[in-house]
Amino acid sequence: MATLLALDHITKSYPMAGQEVPVLKGISFSVQEGEFVTIMGPSGSGKTTLMHILGCLDVPTQGEYHFRNMELAHLSEMQLTRVRREQIGFVFQNFNLLTTLNAVENVALPLIYQRISRQEQYRRAREALARVGLEHRLTYRPNQMSGGQQQRVAIARALVTRPPLILADEPTGNLDSQTGLEVLQLFKELSQEGHTIIMITHDHDVAKWGQRILEIKDGRIVADREVTA
Ligand SMILES: Nc1ncnc2c1ncn2[C@@H]1O[C@H](COP(=O)(O)OP(=O)(O)O)[C@@H](O)[C@H]1O
Ligand SMILES: [Mg+2]
Repeated sequence: MATLLALDHITKSYPMAGQEVPVLKGISFSVQEGEFVTIMGPSGSGKTTLMHILGCLDVPTQGEYHFRNMELAHLSEMQLTRVRREQIGFVFQNFNLLTTLNAVENVALPLIYQRISRQEQYRRAREALARVGLEHRLTYRPNQMSGGQQQRVAIARALVTRPPLILADEPTGNLDSQTGLEVLQLFKELSQEGHTIIMITHDHDVAKWGQRILEIKDGRIVADREVTA
């Protein structure tokens, strides 16, 4: 299996009252193409900070971030934006859908940067919505759908550009347990179809859905283990 990404001694500090407060304290790991990895840790351990670096929403203070054949740690804002659009699909806890757009329009949004017709954008959006089982909700707006359906729209939006990496931050955090299980089952199927997924969670029962669990505590990786069935 090819390596998709590798972090090498990543640190991140935030300035606070004239001091640099370290949040990530030397994070190193790599992820292979096709892996389903969960990053688990308690509140305040640095998960979201790490997710922002993985997702090119922020840059590390020190260290290297290799993604395919690129080095991302020191890119400009513009370069990061491009990597984000082309390489990563995001799923957030609160879905982050635009309330004025229907499902197809939401899912088609990441395609506006591609040189394809509006018609083709909508065709791909409908295809992605069918993949998550929402072919019967194409024209529904977010407030006309349940939380689980909204999260599936968000997953379709993450898939629509066929990115090499899907990054999910607490994707079941706003869902009831049954709906959460359905979303986790969907991630598992996407993983079986070859997608590379990194999912962040504080919940051990959610983390177990990955093939591999990285445990983060106080800004360090303290465990890295395969999940046995
Ligand atoms: N922009 C920021 N400025 C200062 N401190 C921050 C900032 N973002 C996060 N932190 C601090 O970094 C630590 C880890 O935060 P975070 O990555 O959000 O943890 P988690 O997602 O695991 O709950 C916390 O102590 C938080 O207060
Ligand atoms: Mg967080």
